[in-house]
Amino acid sequence: MLNWDDPLQTQPRKPEPEKAVETTPQTTTQVAPEQTQTQETLEPVVQAMLSGMADDDSSKLEPVRAEDKRVVNGLADVNQLAPFKYPWAWNYFLNANKNHWTPLDINMAQDVQDYHHKLSDNERHVYENVLAYLTTSDILAMRNVGLAVMEKMSAPELQIYQARQVYEEALHTWTYQHCIETIGLDQGEIYNRYRVVPEIYGKIKIANRRLNSVLRSDMDLTNRDDLQEFLMAYIFFAAVFEGCWFFNGFSPIFALQRRGLMKGTAEQLQYIMRDEVMHCGFGIRTVKQLMQEENISPDPEALRHMWDEAEAAEKAYAQYILRGPILGYNAEDHLEQFRFIANRRARQLNVDEPFPGAQCALPWLDEQSNIRKEKNFFETRVTEYQTGGGLSW
Ligand SMILES: [Fe+2]
Ligand SMILES: [Fe+2]
Repeated sequence: MLNWDDPLQTQPRKPEPEKAVETTPQTTTQVAPEQTQTQETLEPVVQAMLSGMADDDSSKLEPVRAEDKRVVNGLADVNQLAPFKYPWAWNYFLNANKNHWTPLDINMAQDVQDYHHKLSDNERHVYENVLAYLTTSDILAMRNVGLAVMEKMSAPELQIYQARQVYEEALHTWTYQHCIETIGLDQGEIYNRYRVVPEIYGKIKIANRRLNSVLRSDMDLTNRDDLQEFLMAYIFFAAVFEGCWFFNGFSPIFALQRRGLMKGTAEQLQYIMRDEVMHCGFGIRTVKQLMQEENISPDPEALRHMWDEAEAAEKAYAQYILRGPILGYNAEDHLEQFRFIANRRARQLNVDEPFPGAQCALPWLDEQSNIRKEKNFFETRVTEYQTGGGLSW
């Protein structure tokens, strides 16, 4: 039976012998220091805390005002949630919790059959490399938000959604791992692939460079150059990395799904895509708020470079994963869709479209991203799915 005070402690603790406490604290019965404290020793501690509060003069602190909150460089107490300045951020958090799932919820049995007996060599190449790219990307996304971005936010409602996002990125990594393991792929080889395939590494390298540009400990967002660097990194991750590369990154698998193949994996990716759509939306909203509060905007040349670099990397990637034909999908469609979605992200950011005239090459993609969870979820849920109650510690 679980002990809720200490989940790893399965048996109730035995009461300590009184004598051991009083006379021989260093006996074979190890007694935690806090257990030896009597009422007499605790009281001075409490008194000291109370007097410390008086020294801090907390009673004279002004209440937090919403208008004092800032995305970065805020001075309002970051430990106080309300009053909200960014109620939309809190709503993102509430909505994110409506998309709760785990990869174990989805039946993968047919995918094993499809992969080994129905997919062509070219389709297996697509499947493996898409997973190899995505799994590395999601770790990068998690590290970006959790290590580089969240600590710079100075309003708790922003941090709370980002905490959820960090969890979701970890969940996505688990999902890819679950697919890779279930299908029976060589995990070591798949995870290492981004390091040996230049066309995959090209995208990872760009993201790593952006992450490292804002992960440094001497980052000072009151310095305009550092703030500009942070803004560009944030735009890259929201609008390109999540808004285009993730958003379009699932579509080769969705193309298989549309032909009745790898439907379990595709359904997993639909759940991930719902998260990613929110990550992108939140990121762009936060970037716009940041620009307004700090009176800053991205340098047009830097933006142009960002789009061009992203397009070149996506082109090389598309040509690699789709080096041979598969039915209903090709590299040119993939790249054109990247340009089309990049224009959408630019409009959301209120900046110039980078690829005027780009056409929607995958008109079914938006529909695919709007999965009707309630219907699909219960139809496909595996019956032997275990909940937390089945866990053994
Ligand atoms: Fe993700
Ligand atoms: Fe994400």
